[in-house]
Amino acid sequence: MATGYNASMKITIEAGIALEYRDEGKGPTVVLLHGFPLCSAMWRPQIAALQKDYRVIVPDLRGFGGSTPVADAPSLEQMADDVGGLLDALRIAEPVVLGGLSMGGYAALAVARRYPGRLRGLILADTRAEPDDAQGKANRDAMIDFARANDARAVIDKMLPRLLAEKTLAARPEVVQEIRDMAAAQEIDGIVGALKVLRDRPDARPGLASIRVPTLVVVGSEDALTPPAMAETLAAGIADATLVIIPGAGHMSNLEEPEAFNAAIAGFLRRLG
Ligand code: MLT
Repeated sequence: MATGYNASMKITIEAGIALEYRDEGKGPTVVLLHGFPLCSAMWRPQIAALQKDYRVIVPDLRGFGGSTPVADAPSLEQMADDVGGLLDALRIAEPVVLGGLSMGGYAALAVARRYPGRLRGLILADTRAEPDDAQGKANRDAMIDFARANDARAVIDKMLPRLLAEKTLAARPEVVQEIRDMAAAQEIDGIVGALKVLRDRPDARPGLASIRVPTLVVVGSEDALTPPAMAETLAAGIADATLVIIPGAGHMSNLEEPEAFNAAIAGFLRRLG
């Protein structure tokens, strides 16, 4: 599917499975994984800011954007394997900085568990280590039924009040529209599959102490889905973690307050060298 920002490419990572991705700039590699129910186009402001100093690679996770659609739920492990497969297909053997927002953060944590040697830094944005509790799982099941009975635009419209800060909803119609349009373009099977992945994801807290790479934890001060307290749990569990709270941003901090978000990332990347 055309998402309209940068020229995108497609690469086969295993028989019958291709990921669409954008690959911009030159320098140390930074891979960014998108949130739910979006695609790699959500990283437009970060590509623009980082590509002069870094090679920025943003894949569409399986079931989203232009990547191979899913027939059933993928898993976080499979998402992690897909990231490894993409790096292999691109012949990137040296460790990279891997970032992810929300669902992308859950996937980045899965990469940290499965392929720690592939990482030299981690960026965890508006995400959390805690699994869904019983109510959270019930809400996912209700959203799966809602998604099947409706369309992707109805799904994002249901999510928007909690996805974005009130200030963004009231004063930034172009950001709201960009997110609505990106989500509305996603396939319902991909959305339903991802909701199962989100519902069934493991408790990532026990693995945090094993993360040995420098980690940036970023969260919007108004994030209602993965609030700052959850970012604090992540930062407290990881040995070399820095927490940055983005004032005024909700869950989509990279799109709601791109300048502050980019400044946090650029500072972290400079420190890594
Ligand atoms: C996301 O933004 O990826 C989702 O909101 C994650 C979640 O609901 O847990």
